[in-house]
Amino acid sequence: MIDEIFKIFSEINNLKASNPEEFEALRIKYLSKKGIINSLMSEFRTVPPEQKKEVGQQLNKLKSTLQDRLNELKENIAETDVQSKEIDLSRTSYPIPLGTRHPLSLIKEEINSIFKRLGFSIAEGPEIEDDWHVFSSLNFAEDHPARDMQDTFFIQRNPEVVLRTHTSSVQTRVMEKTQPPIRIICPGRVYRNEAISARAHCFFHQIEGLYIDKNISFADLKQALLFFTKELFGKDTQIRLRPSYFPFTEPSAEMDISCHICGGKGCNICKYTGWVEILGCGMVDPAVLDNCGIDSNIYSGYAFGMGIERIAMLKYQINDIRLFFENDVNFLNQFQSAF
Ligand code: DAH
Repeated sequence: MIDEIFKIFSEINNLKASNPEEFEALRIKYLSKKGIINSLMSEFRTVPPEQKKEVGQQLNKLKSTLQDRLNELKENIAETDVQSKEIDLSRTSYPIPLGTRHPLSLIKEEINSIFKRLGFSIAEGPEIEDDWHVFSSLNFAEDHPARDMQDTFFIQRNPEVVLRTHTSSVQTRVMEKTQPPIRIICPGRVYRNEAISARAHCFFHQIEGLYIDKNISFADLKQALLFFTKELFGKDTQIRLRPSYFPFTEPSAEMDISCHICGGKGCNICKYTGWVEILGCGMVDPAVLDNCGIDSNIYSGYAFGMGIERIAMLKYQINDIRLFFENDVNFLNQFQSAF
């Protein structure tokens, strides 16, 4: 019987089980009721008394060694099971659905990058503003209609605290803190108390531009805007400036671009005029510079402001501003972009 025991000892290290079925077969073979260990136990009764001590000791040792080995095999199986669940190399690949960037973000980034190439940096300001930064510092008279309840959202009926109606407020904030040269663009969200329609929303986005230094002239403004237009809408696009009025610029102008849809021939986008308006601009009124602590006898500058939605609508031919804010994936999915 001792030979039998040593024979089994020599097998133990070679026992293998790569799955639960093989493990179970080993357990039954060695450790079940009718297994080898139990039958050796019953055979033990027939061992002559003088050998009982040694055989008994070896038999117990065999049993515990076997148990250890089987436990080890069981753990190995569990481990490979977890690993194979984590990385299933046989699994077929599937396309990972990628989100897309919002069209307003795309246009904003594109405009930012054009002006960055001209040396502008980005400045931001708060959306909840005070009357000074949105209106007074920018030369809006006390009774200017833009301050009216019809246009402006007030916070808790306080006439001093408003949701900014334009990003021109960031001009003031930067000028108050910085002496020229100043060359910034200010992208951000603005709010107006308007009825929502295909053409108007109660919030939208603007990009403001400001350049203050010595000897800045209207020619500099025109050149920067021409460069910007050609970069954004194509090199054949033309611009025209029409006289206009804004309280914070003098002289003021509105800029049209030649209609990029019909090339200037006339279509329903440009209402058959061949031109579409895209922004307001002008030379910063000296009173605004003085309001912000910049000496208007030394410095001059230009400013411009445009609506991001309007530019996106023209560029992508979108006819309803509400589409930007509805989060309809069928709409958003059309703006696949490289990151
Ligand atoms: N703030 C004007 C608006 O909201 C846009 C604008 C016009 C900004 C002329 C300017 C500017 O900086 O010079 O309609």
